[in-house]
Amino acid sequence: MKALITAGGKGTRLRPLTHTQNKHLLPIANKPILHYALEKMAHAGITEVGIITNQEGEEVKSAIGTGEQWGLHIVYIPQEAPLGLAHVVKISQDFIGDDPFIFYLGDNMVVGDLKKFIDVFEKDGSNCHLTLSKVKDPERFGVPELRNNRIISIEEKPQNPKSEFAVTGIYLYDSTIFKAVNSIKPSARGELEISDAHQYLLDNGYKISYSEITGWWKDTGKPEDVLEANRLILEHMEAYQKGMIDAASNVTGNVVVEEGANIINSVVRGPVVIGKNTIIENSFIGPFTSIGHNCTIRNSEVEFSIVLDRGEILDVGVRIEGSLLGTSARIVSSIGRPRSNRFVVGDQSLIEIR
Ligand code: DAU
Repeated sequence: MKALITAGGKGTRLRPLTHTQNKHLLPIANKPILHYALEKMAHAGITEVGIITNQEGEEVKSAIGTGEQWGLHIVYIPQEAPLGLAHVVKISQDFIGDDPFIFYLGDNMVVGDLKKFIDVFEKDGSNCHLTLSKVKDPERFGVPELRNNRIISIEEKPQNPKSEFAVTGIYLYDSTIFKAVNSIKPSARGELEISDAHQYLLDNGYKISYSEITGWWKDTGKPEDVLEANRLILEHMEAYQKGMIDAASNVTGNVVVEEGANIINSVVRGPVVIGKNTIIENSFIGPFTSIGHNCTIRNSEVEFSIVLDRGEILDVGVRIEGSLLGTSARIVSSIGRPRSNRFVVGDQSLIEIR
């Protein structure tokens, strides 16, 4: 069994963060999203992994490397443009050969291991095994129509979904998928859709089986999904404290304080992760917050948020909540200036004030 993981596409819904960083490298609990996928592959006993990158794939390559650290052998497959998920499969045929494979969308996060899906797929002799998850907004996803516990059709982002399930970004295939991706035509939005490849398999008498993911699954396409994924990972993380916490501080719950971090006269209520060499002074850090490396938070309150490396939050009089701060982003008080707010905001940023 081989694995194919996506790390290309445009990441438009996560702008401005994705103007300067590939979305698959955004940290969740201070670890790039893509690392979680690679850990899962290693855990499932897979060693051969292909990663799809866009043309500027250097960033992903240098962040991930050869895969040695996970015991994986990684091959990078550049995609000339985001021409669709079936196009991703199509250009990976040489790498996959005749092997069965798991196709994993690198921006998906799931709790639990993948081995159980692989086992079902290997036993049931189907050509394709899909994983489904019940969602509130199926119209954002590939949606199956089910009858008598069988998938009878699949539509991509339908206006009138035929079930409350999303087809998640964890797919298992044998090599008949290549017949499908080489036969379908681009959709109205110009992409070779993976849902059309699945429909091709159904129309041509191939067998598609499925499992339901009953636990937690998330497509981290939007900022609120990233915060939600962060919440979940923090809930399950193991606490350790290598940095310095002074006697005036109160640190409770599941809290990671990485090396060189300094917590001074502050309250930290876990689950929280504080990155290397970060300073938290006279501040409150509330649950479900990840603070990156080399950040400074002084005289401020932050909760349910992600602050990327080198971020600064200084003397801010209102609690910052549900926020995502990009690398080196700064929020500072303008005390002393005329009473006004001053912004230097990047393209496609969002600021909500009250
Ligand atoms: O997350 C599950 C959903 O993923 C499925 O329910 C849909 O059927 C499937 O089409 C897909 O929908 P999205 O709109 O979420 O796909 P997105 O464009 O966000 O791309 C998903 C991943 O694939 C992401 O890692 C980016 C990467 N990608 C995407 C395209 C279109 C590529 O590497 N190349 C591409 O051409």
